[in-house]
Amino acid sequence: MRSLIRILILGGTTQASELARALADRADVSPLLSLAGRTQNPAPAPIPCRIGGFGGADGLATFLRAENFDALIDATHPFAEKISANARAASAASGVPLLVFSRPAWAPGDGDQWREVATMADAVAALGDAPRRVFLTQGRLQLAAFAAAPQHYYLVRAIDKPDELRLLPHHKFISARGPFTLEGERELMRAEGIEILVSKNSGGGATAAKLVAARDLNIPVILVARPEAEGAAEAARLDDVLDWIEAHRPAP
Ligand SMILES: NC(=O)c1ccc[n+]([C@@H]2O[C@H](COP(=O)([O-])OP(=O)(O)OC[C@H]3O[C@@H](n4cnc5c(N)ncnc54)[C@H](OP(=O)(O)O)[C@@H]3O)[C@@H](O)[C@H]2O)c1
Repeated sequence: MRSLIRILILGGTTQASELARALADRADVSPLLSLAGRTQNPAPAPIPCRIGGFGGADGLATFLRAENFDALIDATHPFAEKISANARAASAASGVPLLVFSRPAWAPGDGDQWREVATMADAVAALGDAPRRVFLTQGRLQLAAFAAAPQHYYLVRAIDKPDELRLLPHHKFISARGPFTLEGERELMRAEGIEILVSKNSGGGATAAKLVAARDLNIPVILVARPEAEGAAEAARLDDVLDWIEAHRPAP
């Protein structure tokens, strides 16, 4: 008989939702999804879910031990650096094995006009001095960086309305949650007369359509490179995550 494996999934991404769906009706897995609580109406989870921070790496390690988790899966966004660093530290401190479930970064293809920059401040500088119509899809976080370039018109898309919008004199806000279609992205960029797109290099399929639409419409893209993740086992495919879970199931 197979023993039950108890897994904590750090989520807030399409990856985490995909994993949650795959584990939902399994009697041999006891998963718990953890969300930071950033979005006001998170998508409903098909597995048990908790919301809110743990109180740093120590808090996460204590939680892992107290709740008897056998495994930790970091399926957070590639740009969520703090929680991923906490996951590495908490795994080391508690002895609970860690897997990072991360989507591969996007890579340019023929016809793409991409410029990769290291930080959001570099992305702002790369927009240049002349006013442009800019599509910002990096979400709520780091919007304040664009206050340094108030001459541009910003079309801002995020799930919740960011407070920082007030820092941008010319903007329009669209509240939306991916996945987005290629047709929809093309139509939006055309209707808004978008001249340049700024995005994080998040990777994954749910939000990639904007990049194809930009290529089709001959629109340049500024991509903020993802931070380096160090020192943890990684998987990019759901099947590999499920295999890793099997390999870490406790002995009966
Ligand atoms: N950064 C992005 O671009 C982005 C994009 C899409 C979705 N998200 C999702 O939004 C969440 C927050 O992102 P962020 O960049 O603000 O994170 P962050 O800077 O790496 O984390 C800040 C703090 O938020 C708490 N936290 C983050 N993710 C958590 C989770 N899944 N469960 C419980 N607590 C969590 C932790 O608090 P304690 O130290 O108190 O434990 C962490 O120290 C993440 O879950 C991420 O997957 C982020």
